[in-house]
Amino acid sequence: MCGIVGYIGPREATDFLIPGLRRLEYRGYDSAGVATILPHRGIHATKSTGRIDNLNRLLLNMPSPGGVGIGHTRWATHGAPTDENAHPHFGGDGAVAVAHNGVIENFQVLKDRLIADGYEFQSQTDTEVIAHLIDSCLREIRPDEDVVAADYEPLVRVVQKALAQLQGTYGLVILFRDYPEVLMAARLGSPLIIGVGSGEYYVASDASPLVGQTDKIVYIADHEVALMTADKLRVVHRDQGRVSHSVEVLEIESGDVELGGYAHYMLKEIFEQPEAIRNAMRGRLDPDAATARFGGLNLSPQQLRQADRLMLTACGTSWHAGLVGEYQIEALARIPVEVEYASELRYSNPPLGRNTLLFAVTQSGETADTLAALREMKRKGYPTMAICNVVGSTIAQEADGGVYLHAGPEIGVASTKAFTSQCTVLAMLALYFGRLHHLGYDAGIRAIEHLQELPDKVSGALETNDRVKEIAEKYADCNNFLYLGRQFNFPAALEGALKLKEISYIHAEGYPAAEMKHGPIALVDKNTPSVFIMARDAVYDKVMANVQEIKARGGPVIAVVCEGDRRIGRLADDVIEVPATADFLQPIVSVIPLQFLAYHIAVARGCDVDKPRNLAKSVTVE
Ligand code: G6P
Repeated sequence: MCGIVGYIGPREATDFLIPGLRRLEYRGYDSAGVATILPHRGIHATKSTGRIDNLNRLLLNMPSPGGVGIGHTRWATHGAPTDENAHPHFGGDGAVAVAHNGVIENFQVLKDRLIADGYEFQSQTDTEVIAHLIDSCLREIRPDEDVVAADYEPLVRVVQKALAQLQGTYGLVILFRDYPEVLMAARLGSPLIIGVGSGEYYVASDASPLVGQTDKIVYIADHEVALMTADKLRVVHRDQGRVSHSVEVLEIESGDVELGGYAHYMLKEIFEQPEAIRNAMRGRLDPDAATARFGGLNLSPQQLRQADRLMLTACGTSWHAGLVGEYQIEALARIPVEVEYASELRYSNPPLGRNTLLFAVTQSGETADTLAALREMKRKGYPTMAICNVVGSTIAQEADGGVYLHAGPEIGVASTKAFTSQCTVLAMLALYFGRLHHLGYDAGIRAIEHLQELPDKVSGALETNDRVKEIAEKYADCNNFLYLGRQFNFPAALEGALKLKEISYIHAEGYPAAEMKHGPIALVDKNTPSVFIMARDAVYDKVMANVQEIKARGGPVIAVVCEGDRRIGRLADDVIEVPATADFLQPIVSVIPLQFLAYHIAVARGCDVDKPRNLAKSVTVE
């Protein structure tokens, strides 16, 4: 969803803001804007609906010079995606400009009050309220107060006073017309990172715009306000006063956020999966003890052994990974696992035993519902863990412990490498919990061997790309698809259907293969392909019977099977063979051709694969 950038330093701010906003495009947006302080001419904003290219064209015709600036990509919540509603927004008569991520829940009350005070609103956004509110507090600075001599303390006070009146969430960057040497930022529930350059500072809502600019970063925490001049950063906490900030090293490199010759980020990330899985396992397999090991769970084996139930919570693709985890953990560790949508868990009040352990599964670590579910479970006193990709993200920070995926930045909106990395981490957790309980040494060793072979199996599955492309072109005009699998491969079916929906806008349903007789079979006709995900497992013959049922009704069948499957060829219209692995890892291999299928169908239909309509990479609103 929305993205933020800011710059203060000797360069033209737009030289960072525009490429920075392009790096944030992946988050999903429908308008964009920048504002810079023009020397002696106040703050100048340029905004446009649609892509950053539109904004850039406007700036080429009418540049916005200045070494201090802010920028924003907006994903509309309050008010349509119009030029007027695009950020930055001005406060008062242009004394303040802000760009904002998040949602202000009490904006209507504040707006009514500000209108009564004489403020005029140009947009329907909740953000404009923040700008006017800061302006109204700014007017309280006494004319004889020397703001610069007071090391800008009065400005911090102004912003804190305005923020104290807001209910909701914000990541904010703020410019002041009368203090053109200052850039401010503030955070509550919406991430902000400051990049430390030499005589310059950068601000961004995630690390990607900073890559290649600086590797020194400062994470801004909730309730902190940052004030930057070109040579100094001060961070002030609402309750603790001025806080010392630690500068950390950003471990992302330019290659991680660039296309590197691929047509789309999604395709690049599909091909990165063997490496991502290797990274997820690096240092975490312990053949001597026939188990997995994790550095950051922050609970002793004694405490973890007490857990008699695991609750996994997540949204979207991460929820599907949670379902894979349920099958894996129940099979290997025999601990009951429940997988709950975070948006449901946050408001439900499930009766859980004392020894329940919560795992929040999230690529971004910022998904609003997942964060709220984690906080609710934490509030109730359950230990909380994050399985998360983005280092330093809110969920990673707030959880009591957790496991990072180390998959590298995932930029394609349709999640691919994060999914297989999440499933890999969950498989290792299944092994770990299994070995805490009844899983014997031999079985542990076998699981480790399968895990060690997994990256090569996934590489083998990547070889299906050309074959899947042909199949995709054959079926690209169909408007309905079924995805069917059983046991470990049922969540893979859900994930395959979701991928197709997300990027090609085709209606697709994932179902447990046998369950399709209770409804979806009514959809089957010659234009509705069924994609079967089949392994040589205990239910192979049962799934084969389900294939027969589809064929008997004239439905085309695309079958993803394990290499060497000789039986399926007689039945299925199109067969895709992937390497066989252990049952608990098979969905990680079998999902690869499903990712390719969605990708190539979307390309064949002319869809914008990396920026699918209406979707956001990181859903930071409820
Ligand atoms: C959005 C993304 C999905 C993602 C989901 C959960 O819907 O488009 O790809 O699976 O959010 O995101 P998370 O970052 O929590 O895994």
